[in-house]
Amino acid sequence: MLRYFTSGESHGEALVAFLSGFPAGLSIGQEFVDRDLWRRQQGYGRGGRMKIESDKAHFLSGIRHGKTIGSPIAVLLENRDWQNWKESLPVEPGDAKKHKRVPSPRPGHADLAGALKYDFTEARYVLERASARESAARVAIGALAKLFLRELGIEVLSHVIAVGAASIADREIAWERIVPLSQKNEVLLSCADADAEQCMKEEVDKVLRTGDSVGGVFEVVAHDVPPGLGTYAQWDERLDAMLASAVMSLQAVKAVEIGAGIHAAYSPGSAVHDEIGYHRNSGFSGFTRTHNNAGGIEGGVSNGQEIRVRGYLKPISTLRRPLQSVDFSTREPVKAAYERSDVCVVPAAGVAAEAMVALTLARCALDKFGGDSLRETKRNCTGYLEQLKSY
Ligand SMILES: Cc1cc2nc3c(=O)[nH]c(=O)nc-3n(C[C@H](O)[C@H](O)[C@H](O)COP(=O)(O)O)c2cc1C
Repeated sequence: MLRYFTSGESHGEALVAFLSGFPAGLSIGQEFVDRDLWRRQQGYGRGGRMKIESDKAHFLSGIRHGKTIGSPIAVLLENRDWQNWKESLPVEPGDAKKHKRVPSPRPGHADLAGALKYDFTEARYVLERASARESAARVAIGALAKLFLRELGIEVLSHVIAVGAASIADREIAWERIVPLSQKNEVLLSCADADAEQCMKEEVDKVLRTGDSVGGVFEVVAHDVPPGLGTYAQWDERLDAMLASAVMSLQAVKAVEIGAGIHAAYSPGSAVHDEIGYHRNSGFSGFTRTHNNAGGIEGGVSNGQEIRVRGYLKPISTLRRPLQSVDFSTREPVKAAYERSDVCVVPAAGVAAEAMVALTLARCALDKFGGDSLRETKRNCTGYLEQLKSY
């Protein structure tokens, strides 16, 4: 079974991710992993932190001579900002006068709930772990999952469909228009429609002017996924449920939609369900669909269409013009704490969600095809694809 964990504090020495259950024999391109880490750091509206960090994956175990060896993989990402935090956030007790307290919880962040839960007198340790810096570790192992899926012919990418009120959510953007976004060396807001992207930039400019923040919607697309991943046989093995959980686990994601899920709830069945046709040699099995409102999943099983998952992000909770809060020590009303912050992270969250979707699909693919070595997994996958062709 594919399993993974991350550890690390936002301003600690490093982040670490562990990935276990991955087959042997997969070539790992360091450049590919680092490119995804770079993509997660981009986008208009990011804060100063991303100018300090330049993430590089340092593989500690599980990869030798450029290939996975079937052993658990550990990967370390250095936090460059640690140089500035050694005295304020040391492992050892250190000098209490140099510690940086977070004196008043930010509404919307984990500060208050975390402090109450772990019995902290302020929120420093809470935000250190709740921070989305953690998602960089997921992106590193997510890139490995993407490389694995590529061997099975599956690709995973994302694009932005809304920032604040600027939205193209009512349109389906073709895969061919999403691919070039991932190849850009300058990322604005990762939207395939240039005019809409300018409107999105204006939404960010507005909150930059007013000391506010903005959320939005990204969409992850998994291309060329064969029918049959996930199952309705048990509630927790449904692919839609696993994807919803994986994407919702990302910081600030507050709703997840599969296909046209939200709009579908307000529409009649005749306008929603993707009618079925047949055209020999088309797709995986010859069956065709008129559209893809189901987002590639029916009954918790991939149906051979593109998988489309949307993540809805609330606006960032650290505001330059802070909201009302209470001082942890005095319980007096004060403004919420402010610490250097992003104001818009929709493209970055999309990249982190690609990682979560890729890890989920990789887990399902390994459940279905098995295999301790890539050769074995690919042989089983090829046999299944032939079975579909002759269905
Ligand atoms: C890529 C990314 C970057 C983020 N950067 C910030 C940030 O700079 N400041 C902030 O207050 N929240 C930021 N967030 C959101 C918080 O991490 C998140 O709101 C917080 O941990 C509370 O969790 P919740 O929103 O899921 O309830 C970011 C989220 C993502 C996905």
